[in-house]
Amino acid sequence: MAEEPGTPKKGISGYGKGSVDTVLSVDDVARDAEKLSANKPPKQQLTELTKGEAFLSIDGLVAGYGKMEIIHNFDLRVGAGQSLCLIGPNGAGKSTILHSIYGFTNITGGVISVNGNDITRLSPNDKLKNAGIAYILQDNSVFPDMTVEENLLMGGFLKDSTDEAHAAAERVFEKYSRLKDRRDQRAGVLSGGERRLLEISRALIMEPDVLLVDEPSIGLEPRFIDMVFEILDDLQNHEGKTIIMVEQNAKKGLEFADIGYVLVSGELAMAGTGDELLEDPEIGRLFLGG
Ligand SMILES: Nc1ncnc2c1ncn2[C@@H]1O[C@H](COP(=O)(O)OP(=O)(O)O)[C@@H](O)[C@H]1O
Ligand SMILES: [Mg+2]
Repeated sequence: MAEEPGTPKKGISGYGKGSVDTVLSVDDVARDAEKLSANKPPKQQLTELTKGEAFLSIDGLVAGYGKMEIIHNFDLRVGAGQSLCLIGPNGAGKSTILHSIYGFTNITGGVISVNGNDITRLSPNDKLKNAGIAYILQDNSVFPDMTVEENLLMGGFLKDSTDEAHAAAERVFEKYSRLKDRRDQRAGVLSGGERRLLEISRALIMEPDVLLVDEPSIGLEPRFIDMVFEILDDLQNHEGKTIIMVEQNAKKGLEFADIGYVLVSGELAMAGTGDELLEDPEIGRLFLGG
């Protein structure tokens, strides 16, 4: 990439794996990303990306923590069995959107609906038990001193009976022999990839339609990153799950997802198919390492 005359070499590493002179600092990314938000995508464009009726939709969401407003008038559309990945600078509010869908934030405006039902104000327990939405906790939510099976059963705490939870756990074990082989072992002995699989599986116990996944690749070695994306791909394409994901590894996330959204300062800045965003030069420069 040509540098403007007089531009000092960037010493701080921000995003991506470009060579030193193509790496932008976190501040550069934040400032340049602001410029992307000039043309907010119209709702019509979001609707077209779903290739049919939206299964989960968000209209005019205003949300935050306490009195602090983080998300401003945000819209989203995802079809049944589709995947959508949110990318954007650190602190843009990506996790806050997942938190809002799941019911962890203070929502002061807008509507979130699933399958035509308004779920905006349901508690997280109701979302999981009755609305078919599961939130996969970010990194390190496995209890290392409990067995794999005990960890899995914790995902069924809202089931009406322990028999139902056990039956669901058996279904998970039938699907993932890697976990079955270790069911009686302490979860602490699992590899990073197996631990992530256990975190995902625990969410599957409630048989959700929608999976909210925050940074599935975080802290994993590359070979496990591919494994986790394969697991998510299978859940989407063979089990029909709708997936909304946040991924700092924008390349992996956009390669995976049908739809990509760029979030900047709590607002939607760009939307497209995952492939369209991957090919966009500005996205490449800001989020894909040049
Ligand atoms: N639990 C919380 N309480 C108060 N502020 C929070 C909380 N979680 C995140 N924030 C703030 O919300 C903003 C958006 O954070 P987040 O959604 O985590 O961004 P991202 O996931 O895009 O990096 C940040 O300014 C962050 O400091
Ligand atoms: Mg986050």
